Amino acid sequence: MSNLRIDVTLTTEKKPKPNADELGFGRIYTDHMFIMDYTEGKGWHDARIVPYQPVVLDPAAKILHYGQSVFEGLKAYLSENDDIMLFRPEKNMERLNRSSERVCIPAVEEEFALHALTELLKIEKEWIPKAQDTSLYIRPFIFATEPFLGLAPSKTYQFMITLSPVGAYYKEGMNPVKIAVEEEFVRAVPGGTGEAKTGGNYAASIIAQVNAERKGFSQVLWLDGKEKKYVEEVGSMNVFFKINGDIVTPALNGSILEGVTRRSIIDLLRSWDMTVTERSISFEEVYEAFQNGHLEEAFGTGTAAVISPIGEFGWKNERMVINEGKTGEISKKLYDTLTGIQKGEIKDPFGWTKKI
Ligand code: COI
Repeated sequence: MSNLRIDVTLTTEKKPKPNADELGFGRIYTDHMFIMDYTEGKGWHDARIVPYQPVVLDPAAKILHYGQSVFEGLKAYLSENDDIMLFRPEKNMERLNRSSERVCIPAVEEEFALHALTELLKIEKEWIPKAQDTSLYIRPFIFATEPFLGLAPSKTYQFMITLSPVGAYYKEGMNPVKIAVEEEFVRAVPGGTGEAKTGGNYAASIIAQVNAERKGFSQVLWLDGKEKKYVEEVGSMNVFFKINGDIVTPALNGSILEGVTRRSIIDLLRSWDMTVTERSISFEEVYEAFQNGHLEEAFGTGTAAVISPIGEFGWKNERMVINEGKTGEISKKLYDTLTGIQKGEIKDPFGWTKKI
């Protein structure tokens, strides 16, 4: 591992901890954060844990103009024995570097990034909420800081990790969400940045999200960027369908985000001897299954959303209510098992959890 030292400056003014019912998602931050700088020719340097603070940027910093940035999302839980538990964190650091490669950001040393996260978590342990359905959301991110408007990779960057105690991502909590199938805009195209976790993908998706919310939906389901026919993913989640007893999820095709939760859910379902197929699936096929009474469940998976049952799709002028708008049996079992493993309450036969 890199021999970079992490300097620690502790805050002199600790913030009050929120109550579980005030958490929501991503609004409250802990007392400290991790920062590391990159300079061309020097590499990553000046690793430090400092009091949570604003970022100072030159107005010409490339991130502000050309959006050269990547981010990750993972969660820490507190086990019954008071251990800090992480879920497959190495997968997030690997994906961070894959996303960075796509937008010409220099790689971080994954082992060191994990070490930095671990050190930060040890300092912030008391911020990990304990109540049901809460966790400490971890946001590692990198952005271009060079003050230069030429369109070229930045010569300087900052890598940061912030921590936010969170409850459910959706206001619906674990209740089924309503999703609008997006027919006008597309999120990603072949050869684009769809599978990278880069800010621009999310910026491009906001307009559809706003339109969907106006119509009473929580998020949108994206179709492929070429034919607007095949299912890709939901705003902040990968998507799964239970059709006639079997599970189908869109195959990774370069424009779908390779979710850590997605992969874990496929493995978990297969360990229950369920048939899971990763393939392209048109929304027409989903609609046909719905009409024939074969669409038994639909759910999204993601770090923030965990397992989010989908109670309804809005498509063209149709309202497709799934499983009477109730949480399906598999969605519930997946949620309970996954969060049980993540918190160390259920045995982890996969070796996914990392105790700090
Ligand atoms: C996550 O699930 O961690 C994400 O990064 C999605 C984001 C829209 C909250």
